[in-house]
Amino acid sequence: MKIIIINGPNLNLLGKREPEVYGDTTFDDYYSQLQFKFKDVQLEYFQSNIEGELIDKIQSVGFSYDGIVLNAAAYTHTSVGIGDVVKAIDTPVVEVHISNTFSREEFRHQSFISPVAKGVVLGFGLKSYDLAIQSFLD
Ligand code: DQA
Repeated sequence: MKIIIINGPNLNLLGKREPEVYGDTTFDDYYSQLQFKFKDVQLEYFQSNIEGELIDKIQSVGFSYDGIVLNAAAYTHTSVGIGDVVKAIDTPVVEVHISNTFSREEFRHQSFISPVAKGVVLGFGLKSYDLAIQSFLD
C-alpha cells in the first residue's frame, strides 16, 4: 500500500505557525510518528508552497499510488487547478485539514477539493492525517 501525504503552503511552518490553531509539533516530528505507526504502509511526504509543484506531484503519483492524503492549505479555498487535477487522476484523495475550517472565517468554508475528494477529515489537529491514512486501510 503506497500512500503519499501532500502538504501545501505554509505547512512547512507547523510548530511555529499560529500554535494556538495548528499546535506546536513540527510536521517532521509528526511524520516520524506516522511512519512508526503505519510500518506496513509505504508512506511518502511532499510539501510545497507553490501551486504548480503541488499539481505536478499529484499528476506524477495519481495513476500509480493507492492513496493521497492532501492538505492543500490555503489553495483549498482558491485553486481550480488543484480541484481539476484531483478530478483528473485515478488515485483516491482524502482532503485533510488540521483545523476545523468551518468554525473559522467564511472564506475557509469553500473548498475546490471536497466535491472531487473521496472524503474529508478536518478539525482533529494533526490526528486528521492519521485518520485519513486509516481510511485507506479499513
Ligand atoms: C488548513 C486550513 C486552511 O484554511 C489554511 O489556509 C491552512 C491550513 C488546515 O490544515 O487547517 O493553511 O488547511
